[in-house]
Amino acid sequence: MSDHGCPGKAVSVSEYLRRIPKVELHAHLNGCIRHETLMDLAHERGATLSNRHFSAEPLHENLASPPNNGEHHSMYNIMPRSLQNCFDIFAEIPACVNDLSALRRITQEALEDFAAHHVAYLELRSTPKRLLRSHQDDQSQKVDKQVYIETVLEGIRDFQSKEKERFSHDPVLSSSRLPIVCNFIVAIDRSQSLEEATDTVHIAIDMFQRQQSRPSNLSPSIVGIDLGGNPTKNDFRTFQTLFQKARQAGLKVTIHCGEIPSRDEAVAILAFRPDRLGHALLLPSSLQKVLEDTKIPVETCPTSNVMTLELARSSNGNLVHGLSQHPCLAQWLQNNHPLSIGTDDPGVFHTNATKELVLLVNTFSLDPCAMAEKVADSVNYAFCNETLRQEINAKMREIMKEIHHSS
Ligand code: IMP
Ligand code: ZN
Repeated sequence: MSDHGCPGKAVSVSEYLRRIPKVELHAHLNGCIRHETLMDLAHERGATLSNRHFSAEPLHENLASPPNNGEHHSMYNIMPRSLQNCFDIFAEIPACVNDLSALRRITQEALEDFAAHHVAYLELRSTPKRLLRSHQDDQSQKVDKQVYIETVLEGIRDFQSKEKERFSHDPVLSSSRLPIVCNFIVAIDRSQSLEEATDTVHIAIDMFQRQQSRPSNLSPSIVGIDLGGNPTKNDFRTFQTLFQKARQAGLKVTIHCGEIPSRDEAVAILAFRPDRLGHALLLPSSLQKVLEDTKIPVETCPTSNVMTLELARSSNGNLVHGLSQHPCLAQWLQNNHPLSIGTDDPGVFHTNATKELVLLVNTFSLDPCAMAEKVADSVNYAFCNETLRQEINAKMREIMKEIHHSS
């Protein structure tokens, strides 16, 4: 791929997009699991994964053979990842991530992977589960959901302090990227019962309120609540009063919306005015208009959308061709609708934070510098406090200047 129009000497577009500081607001922890880690954990725990979705082969063997051009290789994906396939996969992961050590491992690795792609600010989300302390323990010894959240927060804290240490000893690292800052969103799985969701929301509110009494920009915080999970199950309205309660307690709200056509539910979600929306794909045009008027930021996840809507099926897995069929992205870009760009489930979709930007730039012929600005702007939709937002914003702008100056 050729150079681009940003100031300074030419680097390839994909290298430029790798270097820029990023903001990731839509990533599900268990969906970030590395292929090798999943295989290791399954082996250690004696879990059998279905051959249909998980092959023991390295993942790239499962990708289509694209034209003979290294840079375009990653722009193809023929793995079976329809919406149903994804939920079949998610149903298999808990047999592997069944204890706190596995949870610690996937948390560390998710942060490592986002940091490697220069994510400066991350909001990681996960559905709290009752796990074993150790997979060798008896099934009756499961810990409660609060321990799940505490373990993830601890994993983030550990990673951030290691980052701090690394940065203090490595001036080259400090000039190339920012140390990652990560907060946590408590996810509600809509396929679970109202009772289960109520329990999770109460734990989230309780932990959030305790955290408010000792605010810190250094520790990872619970900042919001999400509704996700299989969109064919249940309805936002079943959980609406819980989301209202969470909002009253001060938590921000993001809702997965429009993954399947469901007009009445989408009307209710938009009327609730969440702070952000996940995907917002298949809204009827009258609701797209409401979305545009209300300017609710959308967490868009390009590869995930192409795969779950099966947009690349007719083009042998060509993601660029698939994304060009996206139901709303072209219009959102044209109207400058507030967007954040996310990976959703980088382990499941075989993607990363850089690849999502390359895909967008290639598909819609965007100026990479404008893309970098858009990514930096998305910190405005983060659920963190104002002080942290401004701090990260300023640091991102500084490092962008540096990149433009030195490249
Ligand atoms: P976890 O919450 O850390 O276990 O991450 C995996 C979970 O995230 C899945 O089981 C789903 O509930 C949710 N999830 C991941 N991707 C999607 C998506 O595209 N739509 C809706 N829910 C999703
Ligand atoms: Zn999602």
